[in-house]
Amino acid sequence: MTNNPVLVTGGTGTLGRQVVPLLRAASRPVRVLSRRERAAQDGVAYVRGDLLGDPAEADARLDEALAGVDTVLHLAGGPKGDDEATRRLVAAARRAGVRHLVYISVIGADKVPLGYFRAKLGAEEAVAGSGLPYTVLRAAQFHDLAFSVVEKMAKLPLVPAPGGVRWQPVDVREVAARLVELALDAPAGAVPDLAGPRVYGMGELTRGYLAAQGRSRKQLPVRVPGKVGRAYRAGANLTLAGAEHGRRTWEEFLTERLAA
Ligand SMILES: NC(=O)c1ccc[n+]([C@@H]2O[C@H](COP(=O)([O-])OP(=O)(O)OC[C@H]3O[C@@H](n4cnc5c(N)ncnc54)[C@H](OP(=O)(O)O)[C@@H]3O)[C@@H](O)[C@H]2O)c1
Repeated sequence: MTNNPVLVTGGTGTLGRQVVPLLRAASRPVRVLSRRERAAQDGVAYVRGDLLGDPAEADARLDEALAGVDTVLHLAGGPKGDDEATRRLVAAARRAGVRHLVYISVIGADKVPLGYFRAKLGAEEAVAGSGLPYTVLRAAQFHDLAFSVVEKMAKLPLVPAPGGVRWQPVDVREVAARLVELALDAPAGAVPDLAGPRVYGMGELTRGYLAAQGRSRKQLPVRVPGKVGRAYRAGANLTLAGAEHGRRTWEEFLTERLAA
């Protein structure tokens, strides 16, 4: 094992903030790419760079971030442009001779007809077609995302309950632990999906959120229209067979989050 720095894109995000300390605990120096200037601390150095910024500037920053790096965990992402951002990173990783590129994708990337999922699929394709040794893990929605969605819905006078829409939320710490294990092992290509321990209807997630605070709210059944609705009702965002499963439940997450 080398002791070259591991580059983590998205190291400042919900997932990345869990990944970075695990790499440090494994005694790996860490470099984080972030759009903001940040001071180095606790064995973590930061390089400022925007994967979707001015191409020449982004490439220069990426070359700096990738100098001497063998392993990259690509966790940077947003609602739009993950395909483009990943193509840019892949080109730079090829220039730098990276030996293992690990990418976090989402369950349903190839099935849910929404821009975010399509971009994740485009990013997966960029990684798989890069010629670089790689590992891609698709995860279900994190508890944190489910929380921010139901928190917003629960503020409405009537809480929408989209019929047939189910989630399989997973704890971000378990996703982080799996990614670090994969990153420190040999490149494995597409590995089994990582989903949460249970499937919940959206209405059930909201009820759980309210019940954990001793509240209840009337729910309004709604139907998600069109092909997006059909895809969700068909479970395109779920992996019902062949996935690995996290252990922490939505209820455990709620207890912890609401106590914090
Ligand atoms: N959230 C979920 O439920 C879920 C489920 C499955 C997969 N994923 C995937 O997991 C990854 C991390 O998700 P998350 O929830 O941790 O996201 P997040 O909390 O929104 O964090 C996004 C991260 O990406 C970085 N970033 C965004 N745009 C960038 C750009 N143009 N250039 C450089 N860095 C950029 C941000 O860094 P700075 O702000 O410091 O620049 C930040 O660290 C994403 O790829 C997401 O698609 C998420």
